Amino acid sequence: MVKSFRTDENHRSNARAGLFLRLSLPPTVVNTRNRPLFFALLSFVAAVAWRCGGSEETSSKGEPDGFSDEKLVALFGALPQTANAPADNPTTPEKVELGRLLFYDPILSGQKDVACATCHHPEFGYAESLEISIGANGHGFGSNRVFADPNDVPFTKRNAHTVVNAAFNGITADGTYDPAKAPMFWDLRSESLEKQALEPIKSFEEMRGHPYQTEAALDSAVARLRAIAEYRQQFKTAFGTETITPVEVGKALAAFQRTLIAPNSRFDQYARGDKSALSELEKEGMLAFVKSGCAECHRGPMFSDFKLHALGVADNEKLAESDAGKDGRYAFRTPTLRNLRHTAPYMHSGKLPGLQQVLEFYEDLSGNQIANPHVTPAMLDPLVAKKLRLEFRDIQAIIAFLDALNDDDFDKRLPERVPSGLPVGGNLQ
Ligand code: HEC
Ligand code: HEC
Repeated sequence: MVKSFRTDENHRSNARAGLFLRLSLPPTVVNTRNRPLFFALLSFVAAVAWRCGGSEETSSKGEPDGFSDEKLVALFGALPQTANAPADNPTTPEKVELGRLLFYDPILSGQKDVACATCHHPEFGYAESLEISIGANGHGFGSNRVFADPNDVPFTKRNAHTVVNAAFNGITADGTYDPAKAPMFWDLRSESLEKQALEPIKSFEEMRGHPYQTEAALDSAVARLRAIAEYRQQFKTAFGTETITPVEVGKALAAFQRTLIAPNSRFDQYARGDKSALSELEKEGMLAFVKSGCAECHRGPMFSDFKLHALGVADNEKLAESDAGKDGRYAFRTPTLRNLRHTAPYMHSGKLPGLQQVLEFYEDLSGNQIANPHVTPAMLDPLVAKKLRLEFRDIQAIIAFLDALNDDDFDKRLPERVPSGLPVGGNLQ
């Protein structure tokens, strides 16, 4: 079951783009049902539009015209085929298998009802289909997930990231990164997969729930693992010691997640030299992506600078308070643009249901329309005023390019059972 944002979206976007085409072309040639012809026409119109108006726009942004494909690709770069591990946690098959069990075992949650996989399930590209997640005291799967009744546990504050390729967080266009310092979360509050993995176990709304306090969460979870002979054996095989501590739990979960990578999108194939891997429309989309200013923040192999930027994205109304992000500045970390096919809805608040809406958000932002009433023009990231210029006519090509960043070939295997004997992946019924 793969979420198909594209069906609905293409419908609306065809309608909107059709309007633009109708203004530019005789009505007889516009047939939005004939998609190849439609896209070919759209590319033609986009190309003409650039030639007519593009050069002035781009030179005013200080960027030379005539980007070669090589120059464009160099802003991003292909992902490496394997993920580096920190010196103190080399990846081994034993750790990976233990990490997989822990990832799916609700034993790590206070009420034994939530596993990492509850919100990062392979069926949803290891992300989540809800805008913001339901952790402790919830049940059900995907969009059917609800809180139990009665309930006093809030939703998670933000939309769940995918963990696919999170092993590469922090990577720059030259391919370097430090896995021990890999930036994590929408507000960069954690570094490395090892440290990140312990945070959900402590968080009230994610996994902890009522049974114990934050300070007791890790010790309580670890005590449960120690009481299960199969886990003692598995930790011994993986780490050479039967003394299970939170450190080994973090290391095993990190080792497993370093295997959840998808470095072979069509963009990667193109960047590695297969010039037939991208269609003309997708290449145009890549150029439009750069010219519109997207690559100012979405650059490097993850299509992220891993920095904080305030864009004034709308809050999620399910939260009691406005989410002001890092330091109350409404700044959030640039997310990866890989595997977006699987990770809708989008943005920290999950408020944009599809890519069409995201691109329309940027089109509005280029026209100085701010979606969040708490964010003033002065609070917006300076790059928005300086670099962001998204024209409606480029939207379809950019979406086509983003589609070339998908790679479905990642490990989706669920364990048949977990050592606690609890339901694999948590309370998904
Ligand atoms: C209740 C849902 C939920 C559960 C359970 C959960 N997560 Fe998450 N996860 C989230 C949300 C929401 C975020 C984003 C939070 C933020 O950035 O403030 C996130 C972010 C992450 C990230 C950061 C990715 C990035 O690019 O920054 C990783 C890695 C991750 N989770 C791994 C895990 C692991 C490992 C577990 C189990 C120990 C787990 N999660 C349990 C919802 C969940
Ligand atoms: C000034 C930096 C910046 C620029 C320029 C920028 N983005 Fe973003 N992008 C971000 C940040 C930061 C977020 C998350 C914002 C939030 O949730 O509050 C984001 C979110 C996204 C998302 C949602 C991804 C997800 O998983 O939720 C998409 C898609 C996206 N941007 C595409 C683009 C495109 C296309 C352009 C060019 C039209 C662009 N961005 C320009 C920084 C930027």
